[in-house]
Amino acid sequence: MTFEQWMRSVLDRVESALEHYLPATSTEPAKLHEAMRYAVLGGGKRVRPLLCHAAGELTDAKAECLEAASAALEMIHVYSLVHDDMPCMDDDELRRGKPTVHVKYDEATALLVGDALQSQAFVALTSDVLAPAQQAALVRELALASGSVGMAGGQAIDLASVGQTLTRPQLETMHRLKTGALLRAAVRMGALTGGTPDAKTLQALDAYSAAVGLAFQVVDDILDVTTDSATLGKTAGKDAKDGKPTYVSIIGLDASRALAAQLRSDAHDALAPFGARAQRLAELADLVVNRVS
Ligand code: IPE
Ligand code: IPE
Ligand code: MG
Ligand code: MG
Ligand code: MG
Repeated sequence: MTFEQWMRSVLDRVESALEHYLPATSTEPAKLHEAMRYAVLGGGKRVRPLLCHAAGELTDAKAECLEAASAALEMIHVYSLVHDDMPCMDDDELRRGKPTVHVKYDEATALLVGDALQSQAFVALTSDVLAPAQQAALVRELALASGSVGMAGGQAIDLASVGQTLTRPQLETMHRLKTGALLRAAVRMGALTGGTPDAKTLQALDAYSAAVGLAFQVVDDILDVTTDSATLGKTAGKDAKDGKPTYVSIIGLDASRALAAQLRSDAHDALAPFGARAQRLAELADLVVNRVS
């Protein structure tokens, strides 16, 4: 199977899983469920589900288990996007090529969509396709990665840093938390879904995720200045306008590109112990760095 064929089949299964794990619009409160589905379905690159599936290949994880874990990861990610776009955070009007949730609906709905997606992620993760011990391990991974020592903590640093010049280590810490933590969880959860990986496997996967996770946000910072809103599906040029410290603002565009290339190579190196089984993870590292949106 080519990478494109593999991606297409994973994306189809992830879309069906999200459809399955999201409450139906026929369930009350219908407006909230409609807004949740508006935010989640039919858009986004689904990078976290793809990483989860690719890591699952290392431990022969079952498809239905990876689907539940991927749905949970994507719901947390979309919750973070919906809140990130709200007026109290980045105040953005465009996301995945559509009006943001608070623009399409209203601010209170956007707040509740995020809250409810966060809870629904843990409903998916405790579905009975996963064994109880797996559920507990996955819940802990996702909760840690999305909370104050992960994504939410990174978002707090991001907001507190507006208008400031961060040192490079401070910037790296912010990126590792706000974006890297959830990508790392996606990889770990994929592996954990198939069994109990040994310490060496987890160590190699963490080295891979550290590189891919940081690369992802470095590239996000680059695309914000190099790409137009239509291609991005979100408002371009927003970081500079808002005075956000980014890799581009701190080290410049060329050095940011060089860093992304170095991190891609670090990611490949980390996969060496796995051989051919890590092919999809290697291809995803390339996708993260070479993407255009
Ligand atoms: C955007 O994430 C926010 C960051 C963490 C940089 P993605 O670039 O994965 O957004 P979608 O899911 O494809 O819309
Ligand atoms: C957002 O970072 C990261 C999270 C949503 C956790 P950004 O604010 O840079 O993401 P975009 O550029 O709006 O997608
Ligand atoms: Mg933000
Ligand atoms: Mg933003
Ligand atoms: Mg950004």
